[in-house]
Amino acid sequence: MRALLVIHRLLCLLAVFSETNALALRSQDVLAPLSPNAQIRLEDSTDPPSKQLPLPAPEKPSEPIGSISRTYNDLLDALNVMQDDYFQLWQGTWPTSIDWTAAVLGTHVSATLSSLTSTAGDVLSNLLSENASGNHKELEDITEQYSLGFENLINHYFDQTSAFYFGEDAFAVRNQAFDDMLWVVLGWLENIKFQVLHSDLHYDDPFSPNETTKRLWHGTQFQSPAAHRARVFYGLASGGWDVSLCNGGMIWSPYLTPYKNAITNELYIAASIGMYLYFPGDFIDSPFMGTTLDDENWSDGYPHDPTHLQAAIEGYSWLNASNMTGANGLYGDGFHISGWKSADDPGTRKCDVLNTMVYTYNQGVILSGLRGLWLATGLQQYLSDGHRLVNDVLLATGWPDKGSQQWEGLGRGGVLEDACDSSGSCSQNGQTFKGIFFHHLAEFCRDIRPQELRFLASANRTGDGEDGWQYVYEWHQARCRTYRPWIEHNANAALLTKNGDGKIGEWWGNTTATDVSPLPQGAIDYQNYGAQGEDSEALTGLLRSRGSKGPSEDETLGLDSTRQLQGWGTAPERSGFTERDYAPNDYNDRGRGRTVETQSGGVAVLRALYQWKTTSSLA
Ligand SMILES: *[C@@H]1O[C@H](CO)[C@@H](O)[C@H](O)[C@H]1NC(C)=O
Ligand SMILES: *[C@@H]1O[C@H](CO)[C@@H](O)[C@H](O)[C@H]1NC(C)=O
Ligand SMILES: *[C@@H]1O[C@H](CO)[C@@H](O)[C@H](O)[C@H]1NC(C)=O
Ligand SMILES: *[C@@H]1O[C@H](CO)[C@@H](O)[C@H](O)[C@H]1NC(C)=O
Ligand SMILES: *[C@@H]1O[C@H](CO)[C@@H](O)[C@H](O)[C@H]1NC(C)=O
Ligand SMILES: *[C@@H]1O[C@H](CO)[C@@H](O)[C@H](O)[C@H]1NC(C)=O
Ligand SMILES: *[C@@H]1O[C@H](CO)[C@@H](O)[C@H](O)[C@H]1NC(C)=O
Repeated sequence: MRALLVIHRLLCLLAVFSETNALALRSQDVLAPLSPNAQIRLEDSTDPPSKQLPLPAPEKPSEPIGSISRTYNDLLDALNVMQDDYFQLWQGTWPTSIDWTAAVLGTHVSATLSSLTSTAGDVLSNLLSENASGNHKELEDITEQYSLGFENLINHYFDQTSAFYFGEDAFAVRNQAFDDMLWVVLGWLENIKFQVLHSDLHYDDPFSPNETTKRLWHGTQFQSPAAHRARVFYGLASGGWDVSLCNGGMIWSPYLTPYKNAITNELYIAASIGMYLYFPGDFIDSPFMGTTLDDENWSDGYPHDPTHLQAAIEGYSWLNASNMTGANGLYGDGFHISGWKSADDPGTRKCDVLNTMVYTYNQGVILSGLRGLWLATGLQQYLSDGHRLVNDVLLATGWPDKGSQQWEGLGRGGVLEDACDSSGSCSQNGQTFKGIFFHHLAEFCRDIRPQELRFLASANRTGDGEDGWQYVYEWHQARCRTYRPWIEHNANAALLTKNGDGKIGEWWGNTTATDVSPLPQGAIDYQNYGAQGEDSEALTGLLRSRGSKGPSEDETLGLDSTRQLQGWGTAPERSGFTERDYAPNDYNDRGRGRTVETQSGGVAVLRALYQWKTTSSLA
């Protein structure tokens, strides 16, 4: 019986192969172990999710299978290096990371697993078609071997993210800044999303009315610890929302003078909407009980706490109205409150001193928040705002002019750069930023998942007809499709920096225009050793430990204890590198060199490209 099932599926796969090689997400339970008591069905007796809730018809496939397979291999290579060379299983962490970057690394691993499991069918058909001789017995053997191997691969990395649950220094993060806590929330929500997706696609039939035929992937047992940690840290971080200054907005850190910055607010929005959509509930009451909801779960089994939705909506409406973007449409870094001395002497109470510093990650995190807000509310404006921002990012890399070496604000020659990249002066923070941007861009544009379809059904949003979510979804995916060449250009640029050990560097591409990435007028680079741009004197000393008085004690920032910003104040001079002092064989050996953070940037951009190549609505 098992053999017949496999052959049946295989023939189906091969039959559709010539027509479509980029399958829409749907149940692909070829990988599910058959439990001894389960009925083996030749035909699925229930329709797959994709038929129950109509998905947009797949576009005409355009991606040759060889191209998919090339990116698949590049992505797996990059992930292997990140995990084999930098992750220590016995410690359950990446020892060279710091707490917040580790949270981001875990997020990348979970998200990459989601991309891989979404496309198990494609890769399967690819490999099979290479070696298929038409002999059914042989095909069957290959399929079985491949399925086992693939499942083993997924479990290999999932085990590592599970170990990281225990290796993560959760106690330390509790005493750090609000953004640090929110990275932790996003990381565990991403882990839960993967668990549910892998189970939906390969094990569970989520629409089965018969509870006893439900088969869950074993990894879903990690839902409760992951949900617990997400809930605890969301609870702690939401204390950073403050209405006493600027009529709202998150402050960055309770240990510093108030600084309402883009990243903390974007994280708060993304985490709030993530909690609303994907948080399954938490019944662990240590160290403190969550507020128990009176409401029943929705019909999809999730609590969908309206206060999470409210927080995301209010958070975005504050950020969007905050005037934090510059003339190029990009988010600056954040606001100081002029004249603030203490809570009793708060100065203007207004967000009136903008640090105009532009980073890649500040243009990224909001994107996944906007997608979630659209999904939750149905308002297209959220997606429109996201696309406007993405377009501004593309322009700020000089796109579509690939030939120029001229700095355009966030890159050159169509390749994304942070200002610290070209001079090799990024801190550990700065080295993590581009990967974060690509992670959230991919999240903004990814396919809708079975779990989200269940949410929409549960919210009674499937009967919207032509004007409903589907129409907007197709419009959204069509916009996303246009980013493909830019993403591919950036992925290729990242691959160029791979050294002999397969390690990817920080400064992507192959230019020699070192150290010509001027900071914006009036900017201080808090994230990379505090370099200052022109006309930034007004900001000097505004960010300091709470309680310290003087305006220019930059050495007393107190950041080392709170944020682990390394080497603050002892930074190499930004303009220290010139071609004469330094004749590098490899620009990416300068400064901190290749690290687990730069590797994660490579993983993220390759995953984005892989997603674009394998998603029918994006290819
Ligand atoms: C297909 O055949 C090639 C050459 O014999 C081999 O290297 C490759 O591993 C085979 N692929 C699979 C999936 O068995
Ligand atoms: C559920 O499935 C099991 C096993 O296939 C079967 O014995 C049982 O009768 C089913 N229950 C319902 C309510 O259909
Ligand atoms: C809500 O769902 C959770 C997780 O599935 C479950 O443990 C809990 O009992 C449900 N609560 C209610 C009130 O149905
Ligand atoms: C927004 O900021 C710019 C300078 O960054 C300023 O000129 C403008 O007046 C501000 N607009 C509002 C509505 O505060
Ligand atoms: C964000 O602000 C812009 C410009 O002020 C506005 O056009 C847009 O509608 C706002 N977005 C949302 C979701 O309210
Ligand atoms: C969806 O409709 C059902 C049946 O009318 C109702 O019980 C449920 O509360 C609705 N769900 C939402 C989120 O409005
Ligand atoms: C990088 O650029 C240099 C000079 O422009 C060229 O000689 C070299 O081949 C390029 N390397 C790669 C890998 O494209």
